[in-house]
Amino acid sequence: MHTQASLGALAVNDSHFGAATNSGQILLVENLRKTFRSGSQGITPLDGIDLSIERGEMIAIVGPSGAGKSTLLHLVAALDTPTSGTVYFGGNSLHTLSEAELAEYRNRAVGFVWQRHHLLPDFTAVENVAMPMLVRGEGLGEALRAAEEWLGEVGLADRAAQRAGELSGGEQQRVAIARALVNRPALLLADEPTGDLDERSAENVFELMQRLHRSHHLTSILATHNLSLARRTDRVLALEHGKLNPGGEGLAGSAAAMARQAGPATRTQGERG
Ligand SMILES: Nc1ncnc2c1ncn2[C@@H]1O[C@H](COP(=O)(O)OP(=O)(O)OP(=O)(O)O)[C@@H](O)[C@H]1O
Ligand SMILES: [Mg+2]
Repeated sequence: MHTQASLGALAVNDSHFGAATNSGQILLVENLRKTFRSGSQGITPLDGIDLSIERGEMIAIVGPSGAGKSTLLHLVAALDTPTSGTVYFGGNSLHTLSEAELAEYRNRAVGFVWQRHHLLPDFTAVENVAMPMLVRGEGLGEALRAAEEWLGEVGLADRAAQRAGELSGGEQQRVAIARALVNRPALLLADEPTGDLDERSAENVFELMQRLHRSHHLTSILATHNLSLARRTDRVLALEHGKLNPGGEGLAGSAAAMARQAGPATRTQGERG
């Protein structure tokens, strides 16, 4: 069992799992492997992944469909467990955390944006954004107040009372970003957040993420098929054949592979998000 003291060691500033402002490594992934079994078959999308991320970095992970980008983000977010290897956040191994601590890590340290927004369509925009605060036990009034502020930050203050299902795809993704950040996490993980959007909306959503990344001192990991957006991050890593390689050749290889599959910098196959 972990004590409150050991949980406190995970804090990256004065609040547990709060936004990081000081420099240094925030995330370390060591020799990460993930094998999925179905019957007698096994598939190993991650076969020895090493990755170190500094606080404040924004990195992009590219790679062909099925390469394991979502799998890697899920392991970093503690939404799934590795077959072997370790993810460290703030110097602490996630696999030593109790279930309660992992739940707190997911709720407080990590903001996750999916390709499809996963909003509750019958709830209003502001209610959707407030949800993670309610989950962590905040009162309704405070949660709605913070949610409204976040909707302002993503440019949707005037749509707060609109049902999420009635918003456009780009607007829904903005709401999803506000929801991901309402608990002021240190890490923003985005799994093809622009994959379902047209070029202009994708550009707007990416610019918004970049602006919030800077203004809230986030550390961000973006999985994407969009190479032109990927190149605008601090660092591009290419995931292929179970390994993560720095941009350059790996990226060029990935770009070529994607071009063969789907046409340059587009996403026409692979519905997995
Ligand atoms: N829960 C699961 N059970 C079995 N196999 C899985 C599971 N999740 C992922 N896989 C397999 O692992 C591989 C990697 O999948 P993943 O979704 O991580 O790829 P991806 O790079 O995100 O692809 P895309 O670009 O299409 O989103 C795929 O072959 C996929 O079928
Ligand atoms: Mg994916």
